[in-house]
Amino acid sequence: MAADYILSIDQGTTSTRALLFDRSGSPMRVRQKDLRQIFPQDGWVEHDAAEIWAATLEVCRGLLTAGTTAGNVAAIGITNQRETTVLWERATGKPLHNAIVWQDRRTAQLCAKLKAEGKEPVVQAKTGLLLDPYFSGTKLAWLLDRVEGARERAKKGELCFGTIDSWLIFNLTGRKVHATDATNASRTLLFNIETQDWDDELLGWFDIPREILPEVKDCCADFGVTEKELFGIEIPVAGVAGDQQAATVGQACFEPGLIKSTYGTGCFAVVNTGERRVESRNRLLGTVAYRIGGKTTYALEGSIFMAGAIVQWLRDEMGLVAKSEDSEAMARDANPNSHAVLVPAFTGLGAPYWEPDARAALFGMTRDTGAKEIVRAALESVSYQTRDLMDAMAADMKAAGLKSPQALRVDGGMVANNWFAQNLADILARPVERPEITETTALGAAYLAGMHVGFYGDMSDVAAHWRCERAFSPKMAEAERAERYERWRGCVKRVIG
Ligand code: G3P
Repeated sequence: MAADYILSIDQGTTSTRALLFDRSGSPMRVRQKDLRQIFPQDGWVEHDAAEIWAATLEVCRGLLTAGTTAGNVAAIGITNQRETTVLWERATGKPLHNAIVWQDRRTAQLCAKLKAEGKEPVVQAKTGLLLDPYFSGTKLAWLLDRVEGARERAKKGELCFGTIDSWLIFNLTGRKVHATDATNASRTLLFNIETQDWDDELLGWFDIPREILPEVKDCCADFGVTEKELFGIEIPVAGVAGDQQAATVGQACFEPGLIKSTYGTGCFAVVNTGERRVESRNRLLGTVAYRIGGKTTYALEGSIFMAGAIVQWLRDEMGLVAKSEDSEAMARDANPNSHAVLVPAFTGLGAPYWEPDARAALFGMTRDTGAKEIVRAALESVSYQTRDLMDAMAADMKAAGLKSPQALRVDGGMVANNWFAQNLADILARPVERPEITETTALGAAYLAGMHVGFYGDMSDVAAHWRCERAFSPKMAEAERAERYERWRGCVKRVIG
C-alpha cells in the first residue's frame, strides 16, 4: 500500500513540532512541545540538546500513535533553527555541553577581533556571511577552547559537531549517519558556498579539525533510515533544510526575484537569486536557498532579530495587550496622526545595520500618546525594518543585473494580523501575499523529503500547490509613506549614533 503522509520535524528556537502532510501538501495533524530556554549569563542563550532529541521523539511518536502507523509515512523531512551549535561524543551520542543558540552573543569579542584584523571580506567572499556571533563557527571554536580536552578529542575523531539537523539525523539513524545539508552548512561560517565544501582556511583560523564535521548533502537526499526500535519500522530521512530555507521552498520561491518573509520570533526575508551567487554590498547575507540534484540555488537573506517578539514584549513586559491578537484592534484604533516611533533594538539591530550594542528606544511621544499608539508603533517598526531589507535587496539585485523582488510572500504567526499585513504593504509599496497554508517551514521540509521519494512531483508540481489566501495591496499615499519612512530612518540614526 502506498503511504499517505510525509512526517515533517520542525525543531525551532522555542518549540519542537511534528506534522503530517498529505499529498496535497495540507497539514493533517500536529504535535508540539515547548523548549526550555537557558540563560547562563547576560547575552548567553543555550538549549539542552538531549531535551531537544527527547522532545523530537515524543512529538513524532505522539503523531504516529494517534491513528497513523509508521508504515503509512513515506519519509521524514527535517527543518530546524539554524546556526545553533552542538558538540557530542561520536561513540555515545552524549553532548559535551549545552547547545549554543543562534541568539547567543558570547563570541562578540572574538568576532570584533577578527574584524579588526581585516578578515570580514574573506569571510563574506567565501561564506556569504559577516563576522557576527550569530553564526556557528565562533560558537564551535568557543566550545573547543573551553570544554576540557575537547580539541584533542576532536582531532582524534572522537567528537561530532553539528547544527540541530545533524544532531537529529545522528539520533534518528541510531548514530549511524553524521550529515547535514547545504543550507545548514551555509550558516556555519566554515562552509565555502562557492566550492560547496568546508573551507580549510576558515577551519584553520578557528583550529577546527575536519574530522568533526558532518558530510554535506543535497536538501533532497538519502540521510539514512530511522533506527527500527524508534518507530517499529525503518523510515527514510529524505529531506533537510534550515528553517528559513525550508520556508522558501514551502512558499515555492523557485524563481530569481521571488521572495518570502517569515514573521516568527524574528523576521527572516529570503530572496531567490538563482544559480548565480550575489555578493551583497548592503550588509545582507548571501546564503544557499536549496541544493537539489547537485545544483545550488542561492539567496540573499535579511535577518531581523525582533518581530513577533516585540508583541510578546508588549504583552509580557509592558502589559499593554492581554493577548497578542489584541494588537490588531489596538493598532487600528490608534490615533493615525501619532508620530511615535519604536526602534526595537532590544538585542541590537540585525540586517542591514548589524549593531549588536544598539538598544531599543521610543521616540516622538506627546501628552496624548497611549497604549494603542505604542502598539501601533511596535507593529510599524516591523514593517519599517522589512522595508530596510527590501531596499537593500533591491539595490543588490539591481547591481547584479537581476529583477527586483516584487510581491512579498509572508508567513509566521504575526501575519494573521490583518492590520500589520496591510501596513507592511503600505510601507513597502508592494503587494503582500498570505498563502492558504501558513505552515510553510514544515511544509518545505515535507516537500523536500517527498520530492526525493517520489511522494511529490518536482518543483513545478510543488509550485502549482501554492495558493494565495489574501493579497494586501498598498493603499497609503506616496507622500505619507515617504514621510513616515524618513522619520523611522532618523530614529534609527539616533539609536545607532
Ligand atoms: O537563524 C535563526 C533561525 O533559523 C531561527 O528561526 O523560527 O526557530 O526562531 P526560529
